[in-house]
Amino acid sequence: MRKPIIGGNWKMNKGTPSEATEMLKKLIPLVKEINSVDIVIVPPFTALYSTIECVQNTNIMVGAQNMYFEEKGAFTGETSPLFLKELGCKFVILGHSERRDIFKETNELVNKKLKKALSLGLNTIVCIGEHLEERETGRTKEIIENQFSNTFKDLNNEEMSKVVIAYEPIWAIGTGKTATPEQAEEIHVFIRELLTKNYNKKTADIVRIQYGGSIKPKNAEDIFKKENIDGGLVGGASLQADSLYEVIKAAETSIK
Ligand code: PGA
Repeated sequence: MRKPIIGGNWKMNKGTPSEATEMLKKLIPLVKEINSVDIVIVPPFTALYSTIECVQNTNIMVGAQNMYFEEKGAFTGETSPLFLKELGCKFVILGHSERRDIFKETNELVNKKLKKALSLGLNTIVCIGEHLEERETGRTKEIIENQFSNTFKDLNNEEMSKVVIAYEPIWAIGTGKTATPEQAEEIHVFIRELLTKNYNKKTADIVRIQYGGSIKPKNAEDIFKKENIDGGLVGGASLQADSLYEVIKAAETSIK
């Protein structure tokens, strides 16, 4: 019912046009028959233009890793969502844990960015997730609920339906430690319950919830098979065409 979505978040890697294009030229033929999974490549800003050019007339969409909530003006170093749209970006990642932890982005800031993106028709992948010590002290659901209510504050059902949520336990990002499929599914179920409680059942059924955190070809299928997991946000394994292809294939095989 929900189309799986795989995001390849390159982070601060492959940011030159030639590096990006080299990877994409390998990926495009591998994935060209896959139509049952949404594929979104998210390169650094400096490679956005060449990435968008390279994937024209393919089944690959392009996203940005961040944006500002204003459209233009004196905001040195920031990127307007209007620029992203004009360039041909279909998605933007908001509130990635690295933005939250390293660059101190708050739920309130992510909420402002999210509302702006939605108002301009830019699709969003919004990340939430707990730190290790929060999990170890049994506070995962409390943290997720707090992030959920503040990050998605004042969205109506129609707006919420357009958001892709990425559940990314921070202790699993780039660490090689993956949540078990059961641990991930438990929180995906919880997020879907929050959607039902704060919005309605229809919205809860529509919203895609990706898992992120050390997804690799070898663990992807077991994770994606879970009923409430609608694909993944992939960092490390998205840098090589072969491994990203295998993860995308796992999402295709796991369609419920
Ligand atoms: P990872 O990153 O796959 O390298 O753990 C995932 C993410 O940060 O989105």
